[in-house]
Amino acid sequence: MADLDDLKEGKKYFADTPQKTEGFFLKGSNSLDWGIKNRLARIFNPKSGRTVMLAIDHGYFQGPTTGLERIDLSILPLVPYADTLMLTRGILRSIVPPSVSQSIVLRVSGGTSILKELSNEEIAVDIEESIRLNVCAMAVQVFIGGEFEKESIINMTKMVDLGNRYGIPVLAVTAVGKDMTRDARYFRLATRICAELGAHYIKSYYIEEGFETVTASCPVPIVMAGGKKIPELDALTMAYNAVQKGASGVDMGRNIFQSDAPVAMIQAVKAVVHDNETPEKAYALYNTLKNQG
Ligand code: R5P
Repeated sequence: MADLDDLKEGKKYFADTPQKTEGFFLKGSNSLDWGIKNRLARIFNPKSGRTVMLAIDHGYFQGPTTGLERIDLSILPLVPYADTLMLTRGILRSIVPPSVSQSIVLRVSGGTSILKELSNEEIAVDIEESIRLNVCAMAVQVFIGGEFEKESIINMTKMVDLGNRYGIPVLAVTAVGKDMTRDARYFRLATRICAELGAHYIKSYYIEEGFETVTASCPVPIVMAGGKKIPELDALTMAYNAVQKGASGVDMGRNIFQSDAPVAMIQAVKAVVHDNETPEKAYALYNTLKNQG
């Protein structure tokens, strides 16, 4: 207990110095509560305002897909280079050491497999699990234009209500069905609906034409999904173009873990996202690191 005999009158009031009121660095996030902002600041680097999320949640509907057969062997070496891991609670508990300092984004929607209609998801993880696992965001798939569009939107809004109650942000993951046209009009529609209904940030695919209109019309941060594996230079170019056109980082999976040299690739992606490195220089870095083994 503090000693009560020697109480000194405080003098350092600096009455001439107004207290600073800082704004929050992330787009559209200034009015969020402290806990949500604190978690977002563990996903997005406050210096660059961007994130490199490593997405390894594919198994929740695809099983052990290429590159994710042995997450302990192939993914754990990549973890130190990521800002955030996006994954399921099963992989988190069974494979990821609790000592990791990277933030965790937990996949909380699910219930379907590649053998059935993918949009027919429900919320598959209780909010208490997200609290117990100390996650920094909860990811929910939203199928705009899909067969179960409304259900997937309501999955998201329910998690937004719970997330706001407990201080955990929600990442809306826009899923593009086979019949959808991947163009700026579609992604403006999908991302804006998610933002209007409360998602704290949104994952969207990159498109060559008009991606800047997607980021401009979405009032909260967008992270770029990687998509299917393409050559490393092309993937780095895509990530570069996305952040230069307003994305607040990437949420990449296959273009990292299916690369010939995943540890080199994630460092090259990081250079593009956090240091604005050009695709050519980042590709040179990739080759140097790859050759170093
Ligand atoms: C897909 O639904 C999963 O949520 C992945 O996280 C997402 O597709 C991103 O991974 P990739 O870069 O491999 O497309």
